[in-house]
Amino acid sequence: MTIVTISDIDFNALYKHHKQQAGRPAKPASAWDARALALRGKPLESAYTDAFIERMDFSDARTLLDVGCGAGNIGVQVAHRLDAVYGMDYSPAMLDVMAHNAAVRGLKNVHPIQAGWDDDWEAIPVCDIVVASRSTLVEDLGDALSKLHNHARRRVYLSYLTGGFFVDRSIARLLGRDGRAHPDYMYILNILHTMGVTPRLDYIDVPGPLAGTENFDDFAQKVTRALGELDETDYQALQHWYDADAGRACRGGALMRWAFIWWETNSYD
Ligand SMILES: C[S@@+](CC[C@H](N)C(=O)[O-])C[C@H]1O[C@@H](n2cnc3c(N)ncnc32)[C@H](O)[C@@H]1O
Repeated sequence: MTIVTISDIDFNALYKHHKQQAGRPAKPASAWDARALALRGKPLESAYTDAFIERMDFSDARTLLDVGCGAGNIGVQVAHRLDAVYGMDYSPAMLDVMAHNAAVRGLKNVHPIQAGWDDDWEAIPVCDIVVASRSTLVEDLGDALSKLHNHARRRVYLSYLTGGFFVDRSIARLLGRDGRAHPDYMYILNILHTMGVTPRLDYIDVPGPLAGTENFDDFAQKVTRALGELDETDYQALQHWYDADAGRACRGGALMRWAFIWWETNSYD
């Protein structure tokens, strides 16, 4: 098909193609179960969650659905402002950590739901606010955005990666991974546009996952988690980068920029 205007572009097909090119197959829930163990007892508060929550509007909202809720970093922290929070995740261990975090805060209105993006959402409650924080790197973005939209009576808030990497892009470039960037947030804006939604955009700049590592091994391990296995040449290049500037190494390189995207759904009762 000849592309004449932007309306001729199937952004969801483009997204799927890009996702495939990035070569990171979808993780099973068990991978997140393993991560959940490390989150037990860790604080929910961070510069990122503070910035996310302060951008939310709770007016006329009594219920919230937190999709890919993890340890409850958003849902549990805002539950005292609401009648009910539903934390949805496909990882049962993450839901256990979220339930624990709610219990230690004395919250009785936080309800775990074990379900995934690809499941039928028929039984998932429609809520006033729907949140998807750092959890939308999905296989079918169009389907995911429709689900978020259709489950929100008032507003949807989500955050998404900018630039395609969970680490400073110069590190990805250094290790020859530049061509394997994850899809960028611009797909979201374009897919929402085709859905007739007019999203609002802001950014949250915070230290990334490589910040504050204790030593080179810790740093290299985190780079491996973000970019995949490293060979000897990669290790040497990374060690050089790490040793060249102690301050930069401690900061983990440049700040990480999250796109903060939200919209009104106008589907009030
Ligand atoms: C990076 S964590 C984000 C957690 C939390 N929302 C936050 O911002 O801290 C991503 C979460 O999404 C969940 N997740 C990943 N893929 C999922 C899927 N297909 N269905 C449901 N949850 C998923 C993971 O289990 C994990 O808890």
